[in-house]
Amino acid sequence: MGKQKRIKRQNQDDSANSVAEKSFIDKHFLKLVLGVLTLAVVLIASVIFLPNLNKPEQVEVQINQEVYNHGKKLYEANCASCHGLEGVGNMQVQIPALDGSMHSWHHSDEWLINQIMHGGINMPAVGANLAWSQEDAEAVLTYFKQWWKPQHKRAQPGEIGE
Ligand code: HEC
Repeated sequence: MGKQKRIKRQNQDDSANSVAEKSFIDKHFLKLVLGVLTLAVVLIASVIFLPNLNKPEQVEVQINQEVYNHGKKLYEANCASCHGLEGVGNMQVQIPALDGSMHSWHHSDEWLINQIMHGGINMPAVGANLAWSQEDAEAVLTYFKQWWKPQHKRAQPGEIGE
């Protein structure tokens, strides 16, 4: 090989190398751009969608809180005089506890609502006397069921359960 030829070959090799290097950088640059774009899309999507995902939960909590507060008000005004502010009852005068320590969780929600509306043997028909709606009775039920332990709620008969 003459000197001239060698130099020419050298130049060809150099330019081949630099093409390879360039496409190497291009490939990685593309990956980087794609990575950054993906990250940006994920970030934007989470900013848009996360607040929406949280919304229904917040609304539900708000409604339950309203029902709970309504039930608490009705309970304290109309039931606590007999069953106690914390539902412990008073067995000296045959008034059962509603806090799960006695029998209340053996009944279905339907039965309990009927008791709230129409009373029993010695219990007056509190709900009917005050013209309560189904929602009022359910709110009172929601309120005193907060005292029950999870196992009471699970063991309660009927399908409403919670
Ligand atoms: C005048 C007292 C009195 C008032 C007021 C009263 N109760 Fe009662 N409650 C009783 C008595 C007594 C019983 C026992 C069963 C019977 O005599 O009907 C009872 C039973 C119950 C039971 C059945 C418990 C069980 O273990 O079987 C529930 C539930 C109940 N009451 C809920 C309420 C709620 C809720 C209110 C308010 C809306 C209320 N009661 C108001 C006296 C009262």
